[in-house]
Order: sequence, then C-alpha cells, then structure tokens
Amino acid sequence: MSAQRGTWITLEGGDGSGKTTQADLLESWLTDAGHVVLRTREPGGSDVGRLIRDIVLHHRGDIAPRAEALLYAADRAHHVATVVRPALERGEVVLQDRYLDSSVAYQGAGRVLDATEIRDLSLWAAEGALPDLTVLLDLDPETARARLDSADKPFDRLEAEKGEFHRRVREAFLALAAAEPDRFLVIDAAGDHDVIATGIRRRVADLLAGDR
Ligand code: TMP
Repeated sequence: MSAQRGTWITLEGGDGSGKTTQADLLESWLTDAGHVVLRTREPGGSDVGRLIRDIVLHHRGDIAPRAEALLYAADRAHHVATVVRPALERGEVVLQDRYLDSSVAYQGAGRVLDATEIRDLSLWAAEGALPDLTVLLDLDPETARARLDSADKPFDRLEAEKGEFHRRVREAFLALAAAEPDRFLVIDAAGDHDVIATGIRRRVADLLAGDR
C-alpha cells in the first residue's frame, strides 16, 4: 500500500502452524522497540467480521463454496476499510493473522473455485491492498494436526477437514510464496519457537529500516 505511513505484516500458514505464538513474540519485540502495534485477524477483525467469523467457522451445515468465498471477502472488505487502513494511516504496525492468501489456499483447496478468481474477488473487496510482508509458517499437516489435538481446541469446521485438503492448502501457500518472493518470507515452522522468531525479526527489522 503506497500512500500509507505504517507497516502491514500478515502471518499465514495451516491450522496449528504456530501463527499465534509467533504473532505474540513479534508484537512484544515491536512494542519494546517503541512501535505502536495493532493486532488483528481475518476472519473476525472487526465488529461485522466477528459475526461473519461465527458463520464461516461455526455453522455446522454446508455453505456453498461461492457463498463461503463471498463471506470471507465481505469480512475482508470491512476489515481493511475500517481497521487496517486507518491504522496504517496513523503510522502503526498492523500485525495480522491471515489475509487473502488464506482465501486462495483454503477456498481454492475445495477444488470448486479457481485461485485467480478467488484472489481477484479479494483484491476487489480490499481495493487492491496488499501487505508489505507476509510470513508463511510452513508445516506438514500431520505435525500440525498433532499440535491441535494436544491443544484440545473446540470444534471448528475447517480444522475438521480431511488430511488431503490440508495438504492442498499447504501446497497452495507454497505456490503463492514462490510467485511473490518479495512479499513472502517462508519459515520452517517445525523448528524451535525462538529460532523462528529470530528469523522473522531479522526480516521485519530490514523492512522497518527500509521504510524510514
Ligand atoms: P484461525 O483459527 O487461524 O483464525 O482461522 C480460521 C479458519 O478460517 C482457518 O481454518 C482458515 C480459514 N480461512 C479461510 O478458509 N479463508 C480465509 O480467507 C481466511 C482468512 C481463513
């Protein structure tokens, strides 16, 4: 986003890849360095978004693939317009759990919709907004599944999808990262938390130095 003053960082990866842990560590590091950080997420980073999150994650029946893609895009449109852009205009660091790459990876993995149309829908919703940096925490779905099982999380429609679906999600994220190497930082999420955090900080420090 060119006319902004702040910095926009998104975290992506499969369920159980450790995004929340890394976002917590990065937020502390940025705050200690004097930055104002806005932590947010999709779906559910706004008042309207919290209602949409409840539908997409907790509705127990099927949702038609196009309807699901539109719900994520509606969440995104409202979130970018009312939360992300204002924070960037105030000069803050926006640290966001998931963005349009999740739509391409997850809604694309259902095999009904094609990646380009999902991405175009999201770009329309967000008026073309793309993050300065996207950190992809890459992890094989079996390891991620074991982490989620041990965390005893409540029922979630998407986490309950089959292994094959999550393998397609992972491949889609890696393909997105390969297509936009300047925007993405791909990290092996199987490693030690502190090692991962250090790798992320290094890249974020470069980004913030370049912005000044
Ligand atoms: P979370 O628990 O990491 O917030 O993720 C919510 C779920 O929503 C996760 O399984 C991925 C899914 N999702 C999509 O399918 N499409 C999207 O556009 C987004 C943002 C999330």
